[in-house]
Amino acid sequence: MTIKDTVRKYSQKLKYVTHIPAKEVEILIGFLLEKNNIWMHLNYHNEFKKEKELEKLVNKRATDYPLEYIIGKASFYGESFIVKEGVLIPRPETEILVENALEVLKNKNCTVNVVEIGTGSGIISVMLALLIKDIKIIAVDINEKALALAKENAKKHNVEDKIEFRLSNLYENITENDIHMTISNPPYIANDYKLPENVKYEPSNALFGGIVGDELLKNIIKETTNKNIEYLLCEMGYDQKKSLEAYLKDFNVADYSFYQDYEKFDRGFTLKFKV
Ligand SMILES: C[S@@+](CC[C@H](N)C(=O)[O-])C[C@H]1O[C@@H](n2cnc3c(N)ncnc32)[C@H](O)[C@@H]1O
Repeated sequence: MTIKDTVRKYSQKLKYVTHIPAKEVEILIGFLLEKNNIWMHLNYHNEFKKEKELEKLVNKRATDYPLEYIIGKASFYGESFIVKEGVLIPRPETEILVENALEVLKNKNCTVNVVEIGTGSGIISVMLALLIKDIKIIAVDINEKALALAKENAKKHNVEDKIEFRLSNLYENITENDIHMTISNPPYIANDYKLPENVKYEPSNALFGGIVGDELLKNIIKETTNKNIEYLLCEMGYDQKKSLEAYLKDFNVADYSFYQDYEKFDRGFTLKFKV
């Protein structure tokens, strides 16, 4: 069977789990053949000889198992990152958080010291390290598997010397007192929220933020104010703006703004404290 016919045949099995079944079959074929999309289209009429292997992968994907875990990679901010089961898969909206950090840090003309809370696969810290010349980052997580993966990604992108990965529950193992900015995409989903099938394969400690969902975010705000850190940038749930805005009234905030994601949902904030 040709690649073209294989794509047609196996797309049928994926039509209930994705709105781009043919594209996903192509990605799986590319993964098995270690070829990119351009090669695939130039060779669409070649015979495909790995149907048995493909069938296994398609069957796995048909259970809603994420494509990124099967192929072991995901794109973020135009770069490719290694992903592994046990660690959250990067989401496109988190690119906005990186953009906001760049905006805050662009005018600093000294080395900036940044903390990332909940680094996961390391995407945020690695991107900041790639895009900002003078930066030192302490990236923490409570998940050892995430820290190991984040280190791999830092190595892959040659920024290991700019990021120190540390096991820490929030700021517990951070004693440094010269931090300019904290950035975080913490777990912010309410514990009883019914997750879509595909998300169930991702680690729950990367997703659930408490009974209401914003508890960890509030802890991050509270702990950041006690640390003399000027900026805090976070991603949050689409329905958390009101309660977080009210919560801010208890703190010494100089300025703040909320932002929306690509689908126009409230998605996070930039906070400036009086220091
Ligand atoms: C939503 S994921 C974000 C991962 C990555 N930064 C990203 O944007 O894709 C949240 C991460 O926070 C970590 N985490 C959860 N609770 C934490 C805590 N109390 N202290 C530090 N990290 C925590 C989780 O293990 C997970 O890796």
